[in-house]
Amino acid sequence: MPLVDTRKMFAAANQNGFAIGAFNVNNMELLQGIVDACKEKNAPLILQISKGARKYANMKYLMALINVAVQESGLPIVVHLDHGDTFELCKQCIDEGFTSVMIDGSHHPYEENIKLTKQVCDYAHSQKVYVSVEAELGRLGGIEEDVVGVKEEDLHKFLTDPDQAEDFIKQTGCDSLAVACGTSHGAYKFKTAPKLAFDLLETLTKRMPGYPLVMHGSSSVPQELIEQINKFGGSMPNAMGVPEEALTQAGKLGVAKINIDTDLRLALTATIRKVFVEKPSEFDPRNYLGPAREAVKNLVAHKVEILGCAGKANLCL
Ligand code: G3H
Ligand code: 13P
Ligand code: ZN
Repeated sequence: MPLVDTRKMFAAANQNGFAIGAFNVNNMELLQGIVDACKEKNAPLILQISKGARKYANMKYLMALINVAVQESGLPIVVHLDHGDTFELCKQCIDEGFTSVMIDGSHHPYEENIKLTKQVCDYAHSQKVYVSVEAELGRLGGIEEDVVGVKEEDLHKFLTDPDQAEDFIKQTGCDSLAVACGTSHGAYKFKTAPKLAFDLLETLTKRMPGYPLVMHGSSSVPQELIEQINKFGGSMPNAMGVPEEALTQAGKLGVAKINIDTDLRLALTATIRKVFVEKPSEFDPRNYLGPAREAVKNLVAHKVEILGCAGKANLCL
């Protein structure tokens, strides 16, 4: 099974009311944890790589590992650029064999976002092997790469505008749209009770039936992981994420892709901290990265059940 683009996956997701998990990869342990879990659960998956991950790991290493994962797992897998910020970066990824890219022009003025997104779509869609393009409209909170997001109290002022969304998709031809619906990146999403704009998802889905929406900033920040981090020497006071029921609900309302990075980082970090404190003489990386990889696997196995994509790989082939 070669790498796939997002079209079949998103059609299956929207028709059946579930979402595909898009998990960020930075190293081998994360990749193996994610892919092992999806294999066990027979879940289709999106492996996403940020500009920072490319710089950290060297894309040649990551792509070689991903190609092994594709062969070993037999699953439908998309390799996706997360938060691409320039045409040049998107083009480079497309030329390297990514099957999907995100061009995130959400911080640019509307017309500029359209122009940039269309340029990427024209290139991606003219390849011999189709490459999908995700765009973004509206502003999220939290920090991603070097872009500072909207403050929690202002999240609802920068939600995606449904009129603009329809016009944007028509003008650019993007395959999916990341929308601002009250989520934010990172571990500190909300100080008070989370409020997501499900009415906006409903409106978008009514106006554009079957069109795949994407939800960024969707980590749930499991409190048991935060407690473990704090217990074993960390300091993450007041970390809070998106309730898991909201993710299941989003899948039923047209969200075909749900992005999760922070939760993987928390699982890895909580496990390593625990090993270091409980076994201070341990210095073999396999004995802390191994359990950390297992924690990532358990987390992803749980997530794909929540998103509803467990057991759905065959629908995406
Ligand atoms: O939305 C951003 C992702 O969590 C990737 O984060 O840029 O630190 O790799 P990163
Ligand atoms: P989290 O920080 O909530 O995991 O969001 C990840 C994300 O949106 C990657 O693009
Ligand atoms: Zn994101």
